[in-house]
Amino acid sequence: MATAKAYTNIALVKYWGKKDAKLIIPQTDSLSLTLNEFYTTTTVKFNSQLNHDIVKVDERFLDKEDAAKVIHVLNIVRSLSKTNSFAEVTSINNVPTAAGLASSASAFAALAGAASTAAGLHLSRRELSRLARRGSGSATRSIYGGLVEWQKGTDDASSFAKPIDEDVDFPIEMLAVLINTKKKKISSRSGMQLSVSTSPYYKAWQEVVAHDMVAIKRAIKEKDINKIGHIAEENALRMHALTLSADPAFTYFNGETLMIINAVEDLRNHGINCYYTMDAGPNVKIIYDHKDRDKIVTRLTDIIDSDRLVVSQPGPGIKIWNE
Ligand code: ADP
Ligand code: DP6
Ligand code: CO
Repeated sequence: MATAKAYTNIALVKYWGKKDAKLIIPQTDSLSLTLNEFYTTTTVKFNSQLNHDIVKVDERFLDKEDAAKVIHVLNIVRSLSKTNSFAEVTSINNVPTAAGLASSASAFAALAGAASTAAGLHLSRRELSRLARRGSGSATRSIYGGLVEWQKGTDDASSFAKPIDEDVDFPIEMLAVLINTKKKKISSRSGMQLSVSTSPYYKAWQEVVAHDMVAIKRAIKEKDINKIGHIAEENALRMHALTLSADPAFTYFNGETLMIINAVEDLRNHGINCYYTMDAGPNVKIIYDHKDRDKIVTRLTDIIDSDRLVVSQPGPGIKIWNE
């Protein structure tokens, strides 16, 4: 039996498309910031008395499709460790589930850590990153803290994350604006698949990401929060252009998403540097320098309740313990 705690990460250069859906090999590299306020804690116990896997998240059994993704990772762990027992998985999300706040990232990173350790494996962080990837692409990056790059690679062995800056020593913060924390209608998985197969802009997106990866790594070296934020904002809008240009077209934005975007632009027009990014959901994340936090929060509380604002700082890598 083992427990792991992994933190979510928000991509500054997004992963939006798979080359190999079975192994979750992405079309492009990506780069993220791990957050200290959102995480998943998962316990896995292999038990020879069981005749099937039991998966509970937030005290409830997962539906068949969601449980299948967990069982897929457990099957990989069983084959690596030559275990054939079924497992009991108990997970708690300290992050809204399936709302575009990257619950799948913290969830599958924690599952990879807990399941492999419970099965007696001693995986390196690189191996953990590869295992997490098999559950959800973004989970590849949640093995590490701080700023993390997922190198797309070409196969299972070469597609893993690498820390760029695990102990971020410059004052970057991310404020999550919780607009709607209910389950999205189009999962990240099916949304990106539809974008790859139908958006006429997909090829341009691959070029955008190649360019943004170089630019953002330079901005990180320079500890330039404005440059990082600008690249992240532009990259997010270009990712969302892939949903609008898909067939059938769709969007994760709602009216409140646009309202928050306007507020960020307004703050910027008043000389307060802050930048927005959105994932597969309506919630907005704002990137800024710690020194501007109070001004940003004050402006936002004019239009949204303060209990819907969560300030995060760079978070740590995965923690795993045997029980
Ligand atoms: P998100 O934006 O939250 O990452 P996704 O559509 O990518 O949204 O992933 C949500 C899915 O991840 C859920 O529907 C479920 O299948 C899976 N998931 C989320 N949390 C857990 C958890 N703690 N344990 C196992 N699976 C989870
Ligand atoms: C917009 O990792 O959730 O958050 O690999 O199918 O599980 P699957 O998808 P997922 O997609 C994340 C998409 C994103 C961008 C990102 O995190 O890079
Ligand atoms: Co996800």
